[in-house]
Amino acid sequence: MKRNLLVSALLLLGFVSLKCNAQVYLDPNAPVEDRVKDALSRMTVHEKVLIIHAQSGFTSAGVPRLGIRQLNMSDGPHGAREELDWNSWRPARWTNDSIVAFPSLTCLAATWNTDMSRIYGSAVSEEFAFRGKDMMLGPGVNINRVPLNGRNFEYMGEDPYLAGEMVVPYIQAVQKNGVATCIKHFFLNNQEMWRSDVNVNVSERAVEEIYLPAFEAAVKRAGTWSIMGSYNKWLDRHCCQNDSSLNSILKRRWGFDGVVVSDWGGTHSTEEAAFGGLDIEMGSAKSYNAYYLADDFEQMVKEGKVPMSILDDKAARVLRTMFRTCMNPRKIIGNIGSEAHYDACRNIGEEGIVLLKNEKSILPLQADNYRKILVVGDNATRNMSYGGGSSELKTRFDISPLDGLRKVYGDKIVYVQGYTTGRPASGSADGAGDDEQARLKTEALEAAKDADLVIFIGGMNKSRHQDCEGTDREGYELNYGQNDLITQLAKVQKNLIVVTFSGSPFATPWIKDVRAMLHCWYLGSMSGETLANVISGKVNPSGKLPVTFAKRQEDYPCFQYGPEGYPGIEKRVDDKVTHQVYYKEGIYVGYRHFNTNKVEPQFPFGFGLSYTTFRYGKASATANADGTWTVSVPVTNTGKVFGKEVVELYISDDECSVDRPAKELKGFTKLALSPGETKDATFTVTRRDLSFFDEATHAWKAEPGTFTAHVAASETDVRSTVTLELR
Ligand code: BGC
Repeated sequence: MKRNLLVSALLLLGFVSLKCNAQVYLDPNAPVEDRVKDALSRMTVHEKVLIIHAQSGFTSAGVPRLGIRQLNMSDGPHGAREELDWNSWRPARWTNDSIVAFPSLTCLAATWNTDMSRIYGSAVSEEFAFRGKDMMLGPGVNINRVPLNGRNFEYMGEDPYLAGEMVVPYIQAVQKNGVATCIKHFFLNNQEMWRSDVNVNVSERAVEEIYLPAFEAAVKRAGTWSIMGSYNKWLDRHCCQNDSSLNSILKRRWGFDGVVVSDWGGTHSTEEAAFGGLDIEMGSAKSYNAYYLADDFEQMVKEGKVPMSILDDKAARVLRTMFRTCMNPRKIIGNIGSEAHYDACRNIGEEGIVLLKNEKSILPLQADNYRKILVVGDNATRNMSYGGGSSELKTRFDISPLDGLRKVYGDKIVYVQGYTTGRPASGSADGAGDDEQARLKTEALEAAKDADLVIFIGGMNKSRHQDCEGTDREGYELNYGQNDLITQLAKVQKNLIVVTFSGSPFATPWIKDVRAMLHCWYLGSMSGETLANVISGKVNPSGKLPVTFAKRQEDYPCFQYGPEGYPGIEKRVDDKVTHQVYYKEGIYVGYRHFNTNKVEPQFPFGFGLSYTTFRYGKASATANADGTWTVSVPVTNTGKVFGKEVVELYISDDECSVDRPAKELKGFTKLALSPGETKDATFTVTRRDLSFFDEATHAWKAEPGTFTAHVAASETDVRSTVTLELR
């Protein structure tokens, strides 16, 4: 009897200890938090330190002893970047890493269609997954404050509401596939000039109303699993190791439970990285054990200078990311270059192209009306997936604008280059003294005389100072003599259509001389087919501007305060040169400045034409029991072709104790309408939509009174208004 009891007790003990030793962290069905806790409890201090810094250019270590995989990262956000050498920036020259290039994020923003964000996120993450990537470095939601910023093309325009709404479905779609998004660059990374040390001086209100909301949406609404700190400083601290932005705002206020990844080389001190909220250090130019969060950090932990809880928190965040991605059995296998991805690429591009002018409806182009169509411009043949810095892509297949047009218009198309980019792209170098430039121009003008119609295809091209990481543009004008060439072409050819590619606005001094203008941002692998579909009318354009196109550079608010406003000034502190930039325009960024200060833009925010016309009816509003309002307006397609219309909702505060912008975007929807068809555009307005950030109480505040809801076709084209009352 006694013996039996003893055996049973031993068996029970064995079972309990087996249970305790059960590898919960490897159980795909266990809750992620249990897996994290279990894995952490099995790791040595050294192993915890190993997973919080890079082990190669784009990976951080796993825990091989425990079968925990490394994190594989890759740049995005427009496709998975080509493989680079393990330890350097050199291309690894693999033969299986060519992918589909999707349109630039600015183009996605120009669709104003959240379904497109979902389609984009889903397709691009399938490519990341198939390439074995766990984390996509992107998308970016920095606000387009400066039209010269070299990275605007990677972001989603000048308005925090638009960027926030567009980024949420993108993140959700990517992460549904088991790939983490790494939202960048948090935050105030609005220029490339002096990006690694410029300290941004900005009001609390502008931080809250302009620069944080899109990130907040990415964290709180979409639940991004990672975020990248930015190179610049805020409150004199680098944003990759900034207690105020990373701990106070991101982790404590917003409850972010994922990893903060440094920008490459954006970490500068062990102590600040330890206490300043950084979780994975990447890209520091030293051997991996000399990284700030490597040996020195481990030593500080061992000496008790950094509490173990800090190391555990960082390691837990990294493990959580692993269990969500590379250790997640539900992570998809994915695919590359499927028909569906090329379709997605084309559909997003088609909805993002913005028709800015269309005099006498010259577009869509009817082939029968023209015998000879001359295409002029370097961007007609250029592969614009290359260049631009870290978002550069190696593509499997690309169709250029020229080839796309040839597919539709065949032999009617004749091409001349018109200008060359093979020389310094500075404004001052335009024109005189360049034989090659002069020869190309003469050739284009001669050919233009002999054609029935000219399509000029230019803009920027992702080379240095032309939409490229690391450099800002040198001025607001297009380079390589393009303005002069367009002006001269218009003199010899009345049927002139201008097609531009770029991520930022630019001056269009020739706009009155040309018959039509289409702006394409960057369209990715399907560029040519996308453009040809819109030019030929197979697709009716429906994009609208996510940024204001000013007439002149000095019309933008950041240029109103001299160099202090942009690019900043040098200051000596403790014998060290620092750069300081002052966002003196405060909350008056983009259209908030143009509308409030009555500066007439060339093309306003939210503007874009269609091949059909839309009539807006009268807006109405109802107050709902939950304290929100429903605003609705009927919109009718009054033209002859199917079209999509972005209907925008702006709110203004009729009377307020503080200055507020004339109106601000708080809603948008895209309606698809057949000729004669009417649909209602419906918006929900919340109390927060009526609020401003009150610096006195450090909180959002809506003051009782009346507010006007403007239903509009663009920021300056209000079609109907209705009053909302807040008691
Ligand atoms: C860029 C990041 C990029 C990283 C890795 C940095 O220079 O700012 O956006 O993800 O490099 O390529």
